Amino acid sequence: VPFDLLVTGASEVLTCDGPAQGTAEARLGAVRRGVVGVSQGRVAFVGTDPPRDGVGPGTRLLDAGGGFVGPGFVDCHTHLVFAGDRAEEFERRCRGESYLQIAAEGGGIQRSLEATSAATEDALVALALPRLARLLAQGVTTAEVKSGYGGTVEAELRCLRAVRRLAALQPVTLVGTVLALHAVPVAYRERRQAWIEAVRDELLPAVCREGLARFCDAYVEQAAFSPEEATPVLTQARRLGLEIRLHVDQLTAGGGAELAARLGARSADHLEQISPAGVAALRAAGTRAVLLPTSTLFGRVRPYAPGRALLDAGVPVALATNLNPGTSMSENVFLALGLGCLENGLTPAEAYLGFTRTAGEVLGVPGLGRLTVGGPADLVVYRADSYRQLPYHFAMSDVAEVLKAGRRCS
Ligand code: NIG
Repeated sequence: VPFDLLVTGASEVLTCDGPAQGTAEARLGAVRRGVVGVSQGRVAFVGTDPPRDGVGPGTRLLDAGGGFVGPGFVDCHTHLVFAGDRAEEFERRCRGESYLQIAAEGGGIQRSLEATSAATEDALVALALPRLARLLAQGVTTAEVKSGYGGTVEAELRCLRAVRRLAALQPVTLVGTVLALHAVPVAYRERRQAWIEAVRDELLPAVCREGLARFCDAYVEQAAFSPEEATPVLTQARRLGLEIRLHVDQLTAGGGAELAARLGARSADHLEQISPAGVAALRAAGTRAVLLPTSTLFGRVRPYAPGRALLDAGVPVALATNLNPGTSMSENVFLALGLGCLENGLTPAEAYLGFTRTAGEVLGVPGLGRLTVGGPADLVVYRADSYRQLPYHFAMSDVAEVLKAGRRCS
């Protein structure tokens, strides 16, 4: 049967489907001068010799012009539904105030919470659409989106309903995460336990009834929620069928990675302050690490997460933009890839896998972040002839074409 589309002229096709036990380079599954056949939105062929009957009168041809082809990026950690901005806080950080200092004075997440809780669902959708368009233009075809700036049960639901609407309005596939333990809303400041219980007993069951999220996340940090506060919520989430992701060890070391391991989280995210015991715990539990180097840079937090040590210990490492108004006001995938190499210590192959195959594993969707026959034809054609050029051509996009389910988006 002829393909609907045939991508030819590539320097190489990276399937990201090489053997799990191989080196990072082997896991890239490169096919030199490969072609990709697409039928009905799915990959129908990857290799060098397409079947003779693969090209018919109706087959469209896309010439990669010597660039390489790879799977769409999977941005597995974003907070892209929010209202308002925090440019003023950015300026204060530039003048030397710290993220924690600003948060303690009522800024930080609290500021975004005020603006977001006052926004309608329509407004949240309208604000998020251009952010998604910018991600798509850089090759992101799947993104995880967290709530967390709602501050009431109703506003948290509104944010997640906005995610569901956004999924229907534009090409990027979206995966929802409920992150209600992000900051204690002002109204609950004197009774934080009441917020925790509202999340556990009202919000989570409503989220699951409406099918609004696949994951439950919590910000475990001295200035946010303790492991003891987060655990009952996460346990309830698991009971309701949600999987667990955690923001841990970002600003202070608090045994967060160990908590993620104990709870069997799918991933532990941030990890700037992870201890050697935390690394060992993630390894033993099979919990993946998600590193967010643009937020380390932008939040002026140091050090960067020890990506090299995590990988050397056998912990899979994903990278993500962490797009959010406070610590990472950027959709720049290529900046994250570059910093992943320069500051987290990943090689270009490891960074590329971190934004494709490993990020797909974090989201737990089989085949996501890979180009495999039968899988969705979410792919990117680059002007560059090698993935090595992406972190090297620092913070710049060499994307020529983005295809979502075989359709050109650019
Ligand atoms: O991933 N760490 C917690 N949450 C966000 C920051 C949110 C904000 O400052 O608005 C993060 O960095």
